[in-house]
Amino acid sequence: MKFFVDTADIAEIRDLAESGLLDGVTTNPTLVAKAGRDFNDILRDICAVVDGPVSAEVTATDAKGMIAEGEKLALIADNITVKVPLTIDGLKACRHLTSNGTMVNVTLCFSAVQALMAAKAGATFISPFVGRLDDISQDGMALINDIRQIYDNYDSFSTEILVASVRNPTHVLRAALIGADVCTIPPATLRQLVKHPLTDAGLQAFLADWAKTGQKIG
Ligand code: E4P
Repeated sequence: MKFFVDTADIAEIRDLAESGLLDGVTTNPTLVAKAGRDFNDILRDICAVVDGPVSAEVTATDAKGMIAEGEKLALIADNITVKVPLTIDGLKACRHLTSNGTMVNVTLCFSAVQALMAAKAGATFISPFVGRLDDISQDGMALINDIRQIYDNYDSFSTEILVASVRNPTHVLRAALIGADVCTIPPATLRQLVKHPLTDAGLQAFLADWAKTGQKIG
């Protein structure tokens, strides 16, 4: 499973990219507003650090406007993935942009039939928002399971399932068990994935015992 980081904070992205575990980045207008910098500068900086797909969301709501914005964003770097909302206009823009070789991430997906439509429109990625479904007492991961089953039924679909609105390591675990292609994960949750209290306690004990030997390696 690929790991994308869900942030527009370049310092966080640089730090996580150094781990070698980062396969891409997702941004959205809320994350860009939080970063408080020029959108184009943010995207240029991210694409200089990360080779994998970098999602950049359009803000037009009509297909023509989305295509125009998407084409501009795609000029920033080869790995820009244009993010469009799951609306009829978004799907029209998706079809147009992917036909011309631009990667497209269809976002704000909350149902399996929406995901089916995105695959038919040739989306590179579909972004189902699991956390926001959990927030309204619906099972976000059940949606991932349904989409996986639907996509696996049709060889002609190549759309990757990008699990979004991830809030905790359990979301990542369940996404991996289902066989989702990608998880986009907030930086703090990404760092949490490596943590286990028994790892920390075990390491402390090993270091203490090693110190007692008075030895050095090398
Ligand atoms: C990423 O592509 C999505 O925009 C993001 O994961 C949404 O997360 P949120 O529901 O925590 O805002």
